[in-house]
Amino acid sequence: MKIATTIEEVRAQVRAWHKQGLTVGLVPTMGYLHEGHASLIKTSAARCDRTVVSVFVNPTQFGPGEDLESYPRDFERDCAVCEKMGADLVFHPAVTEMYPGGQTATYVEILDDMPKQLCGKTRPIHFRGVCTVVSKLFNIVQPERAFFGEKDAQQLAIVRRMVRDLSYGIEIVGCPIVRELDGLAKSSRNTYLSPEERKAALCLSQAVRLGKKMVLEGERDARVVLNAMRNLIAHEPLARIDYVEAVDGETMAPTDELYDNVLVAMAVYIGSTRLIDNFSVKLQEG
Ligand code: PAJ
Repeated sequence: MKIATTIEEVRAQVRAWHKQGLTVGLVPTMGYLHEGHASLIKTSAARCDRTVVSVFVNPTQFGPGEDLESYPRDFERDCAVCEKMGADLVFHPAVTEMYPGGQTATYVEILDDMPKQLCGKTRPIHFRGVCTVVSKLFNIVQPERAFFGEKDAQQLAIVRRMVRDLSYGIEIVGCPIVRELDGLAKSSRNTYLSPEERKAALCLSQAVRLGKKMVLEGERDARVVLNAMRNLIAHEPLARIDYVEAVDGETMAPTDELYDNVLVAMAVYIGSTRLIDNFSVKLQEG
């Protein structure tokens, strides 16, 4: 497995692979890799001839007062995970390599309501930063496929939309949420939790389980399901709800009706750590 820190090294390597007729998969990450990221890398390695993992804590997607500086980092461990999961190249650029002079005047931004829903309500510049960096990574790596987790369902929907709108011709592959044994969705931010908060954080996956069960039992009124989920979370003293909402899985428009592919998503503060979780309504499984 190779490690590249410059855009030019990545371009040269991918050019060589494409010349040999090999397909390339890209797994964009911000590092501090866990089993969620590992599953994406493994899926890419299974579906593509070569896999590139990017490890870059992208400043443009963090708002003022968010955790850019304190975001956990351990590049050596990340490389070990990448190698074990079958990655061929890790791209680990400095901020100045991705953003010359440390800044950018050009952004990729979806201009309808999609990035304003859910996480966009409290993180107004977040998805503009995600689209900009993902777009740059697509231009640098030029992969045939790119792999994203369903844990960040709004991000996945936004990337799909960006790819469609800008004709990237890259297949976007969504991968299921990987959870801890007790249900907590794996996240690099779980490391911020104290032991007491770690227990309290279970209310997110419990709310997901409750919501799924209600849908499975036939409830189709989103307000009923969302209220039950909110009540469950409200019983946890360390939890503070940012949002618990139901939206169309593609457009992110709010809905009161639970039809196929509706996304039921939440963001909840546990102490000062903001965690997210979600499920998609799958009626045919019921
Ligand atoms: P990061 O939070 O590091 O996540 C990288 C990828 O791993 C995302 O596609 C995310 O959805 C996926 N992922 C995280 N936790 C997961 C879990 N428990 N199960 C399955 N997949 C999981 O998302 C980002 O980085 C950034 O916004 C990025 C796309 C890299 C742009 O900077």
